[in-house]
Amino acid sequence: MSPAYHIPPGIVSLWLGLLIVLFTCVDAYEEISDNTLSGLLRPNNDFDIHNGALLSPILRTRVPGTPGSTAVLNHFADFFRTTLPKWTIEFHNSTAKTPLSNGKDVPFRNFIATRDPPWASVGDVGRLTLVAHYDSKIAPEGFIGGIDSAAPCAMIMHAMRSIDAALEKKWSALKEQELYGYLEEERGLQVIFLDGEEAFKEWTATDSLYGSRALATHWDDQVYPAMSEFKGPLSSISLFVLLDLLGSKSPTIQSYYETTHWAYQRLGALEKRFKSLKHFKSNSADSWFIDTENDGHRLAPMGGIQDDHLPFLAKGVEILHLIDYSPFKGFPPVWHTIDDDGEHLDLDTVEDWSMLVTAFVAEWMELEGFFDRPSSPSPRNDESAELEALRLSRKTEL
Ligand SMILES: *[C@@H]1O[C@H](CO)[C@@H](O)[C@H](O)[C@H]1NC(C)=O
Ligand SMILES: [Zn+2]
Repeated sequence: MSPAYHIPPGIVSLWLGLLIVLFTCVDAYEEISDNTLSGLLRPNNDFDIHNGALLSPILRTRVPGTPGSTAVLNHFADFFRTTLPKWTIEFHNSTAKTPLSNGKDVPFRNFIATRDPPWASVGDVGRLTLVAHYDSKIAPEGFIGGIDSAAPCAMIMHAMRSIDAALEKKWSALKEQELYGYLEEERGLQVIFLDGEEAFKEWTATDSLYGSRALATHWDDQVYPAMSEFKGPLSSISLFVLLDLLGSKSPTIQSYYETTHWAYQRLGALEKRFKSLKHFKSNSADSWFIDTENDGHRLAPMGGIQDDHLPFLAKGVEILHLIDYSPFKGFPPVWHTIDDDGEHLDLDTVEDWSMLVTAFVAEWMELEGFFDRPSSPSPRNDESAELEALRLSRKTEL
């Protein structure tokens, strides 16, 4: 600061304090343009159920503690190490006895991948967290769990792959222009593939959600360094988006929580835009997000569904639960039957879901202008125009 005139320091700090309050209250979220929406990468052959690079390796039995589970875990790790090398990956392992383990401990292994702004300290980043469970049910024998939840895992992988370059571009640009690190809250991304969601015998409080219960407890005990923006890994989750039972045709998604209804409505808006741009492959006339027009004060009277979000919800994490369920239709017909396999997935719907998640993440991370547009004649000028716009919008926000 070069003081051309004298401002009492008290006023400066008051003003800074006010700014910080203003900025931490802002739910930054920026719509992407039709052009960007239409140009997002599609999964193409990668969702092929026999040899697709993302989905097919998950379409196998993967009961906790079995070789199938290890193989799928390795698939996740290989994907991030080779395709998304800037992400940090870690495992969270725990053990528990199950009603079928004859007193022996069964290992549960959660997979966690994180991507934070390179300049940010771990405790200062608020993260959009995308979650699905990767374990499969032990019965009926040979159960694959296509919608439950092999397909949701693949959707998340595709979404992260599709936005990673744009995110890198945005962060490099911010860094170059020294437009980072001051007022705007730091935003990062996180992927959690949970183990042990399914009950072994019969769904109870102790026979279910093995991985998510252990992880929520573990993170609740962890504290970030003093002076961090967030207390620990749980409070740094800005939104916990759980995908489950997705991949059947014409899904029905309810909105369950008033505080995250705005995010639900964003997904509903994106669904509408994809459809009107004719960029959805599945042809369902009905809206997937049936509560989009609801004002958020009278949501799902049926309450929540028992799923991996519960241990996090109980600790105050904001939840968006994307699950195909309605009181009239229930879960998709293949649910927990041997028919929930690759062949019974509606692949157009799986692909559309992956595009929807991609677009939502792009808007959350405010990536408009940072996707490559090969048709554009002068990308460099576009880019500086974007940065100029960014700088101007900051000024307006001030
Ligand atoms: C947790 O499990 C993973 C996968 O089996 C393994 O690679 C890792 O070494 C384990 N971590 C610890 C701390 O035991
Ligand atoms: Zn299930």
